[in-house]
Amino acid sequence: MSHFHYQNGELYAEQLALSEVAAQFGTPCYVYSRAALQAACDSWQQACQGRDSLICYSVKSNSNLAILHILAKQGFGFDIVSGGELRRVLAAGGAAQKVIFSGVGKSREEIRFALQQQVACFNVESASELLRINQIAGELGCRAPISLRVNPDVDAQTHPYISTGLKENKFGIAYEEALPLYRMAAGLPHLQVHGIDCHIGSQLLDDAPLLAAFERIALLVDTLAAEGIHLQHLDIGGGLGIRYTSDQQPVPVGDYLQHLFARIDAWRARSAHTQALRIVFEPGRSIIGNCGLLLSRVEYLKHGAGKNFAIVDAAMNDLLRPALYQAWHEVLPLQQHARAAQLYDIVGPVCESADWLARARELALQEDDLLAFMSAGAYGMTMSSNYNTRARAAEVLVDGAQMHLIREREQLDSLFALEKIPF
Ligand code: LLP
Repeated sequence: MSHFHYQNGELYAEQLALSEVAAQFGTPCYVYSRAALQAACDSWQQACQGRDSLICYSVKSNSNLAILHILAKQGFGFDIVSGGELRRVLAAGGAAQKVIFSGVGKSREEIRFALQQQVACFNVESASELLRINQIAGELGCRAPISLRVNPDVDAQTHPYISTGLKENKFGIAYEEALPLYRMAAGLPHLQVHGIDCHIGSQLLDDAPLLAAFERIALLVDTLAAEGIHLQHLDIGGGLGIRYTSDQQPVPVGDYLQHLFARIDAWRARSAHTQALRIVFEPGRSIIGNCGLLLSRVEYLKHGAGKNFAIVDAAMNDLLRPALYQAWHEVLPLQQHARAAQLYDIVGPVCESADWLARARELALQEDDLLAFMSAGAYGMTMSSNYNTRARAAEVLVDGAQMHLIREREQLDSLFALEKIPF
């Protein structure tokens, strides 16, 4: 059973009617199910059982401290892309020694802080970055563990904005340049060549591109070994998709990992140097995506000549994915009604035509109704903003029949508290 389900015509998260969350904390409000998160963690960990592996949850997908804390306690590592995310992980009780630092533009301060905290590895994306990390590690009198993020030039067949593994993307090091850069890294005194990394994109429904990327990376690991550069880990990135629409059939985590480990086993059988290689993953969406929803209230119904609009109190500043990627989130009413349904575009109060959350949905709506935008656990709250001076939503974690406020709704005064009038 899904952790979000109807009971007597009312939408529940676990054993709690979502209308109670709205009554207590207001809307818009992100709601997460702890049991759903536990189930997602279990499916990743079970699929990795008996394997030398580290699952580094991708913090950018949902970085609430309570979520990070649950994952840390569960034994997960973390994939971060900024010093801010590292501070969050530490504040949530995560261990720096299980942190992989990704990202194409790490600043000097971020590198210094990460080295001081002794993160597990830096995923490096350019020669300049290698030199910068080497220099800072030298100043601190340590050796920085590094991986190169190699671009396997594999088409992830996903939305162009979230595809990262092609030659033309800004990410990673071109496949042909990896070998000379590894040689350079191996010769730098304050670097310790630790691994290899790739990430080809996000929301992949099929695992074939991920497996193809693995094969390309494995080939490179063999070449490096032949040169005497022996790696300790292979990081295959994140990217596994989730179901947003009922016709999507994403490959389940267990199946993907079974396919991947079968290839790893076959590779190990022919390449002795791979025996000590740990496998690292950086999943975000496939852990938290379907654990959360965005609650919203209908403010106005507007029946136009050609279209009906439901104007709700959530907007593109709360959930940017539809505006940015034309993303589809299922919309469920908190109360099921026998009223006649009509087609609605569901839009927010922000002054932009791009401010829509769902289009052409058949719903039986009245003003003041509550709605849930499903599958909003990943890249929902973390991509929210204060555009139009809107306070960001509250976040609530449901655990059984209990609810916990895990982020207060922002106060409007705090939105301009750092600003100064200089006259
Ligand atoms: N590792 C790296 C280096 C990444 O860039 C990402 C995501 C991940 C791991 C996690 O990928 P996941 O398992 O979540 O697919 N805002 C977009 C998604 C952007 C993904 C960015 N990178 C969206 O809302 O669909």
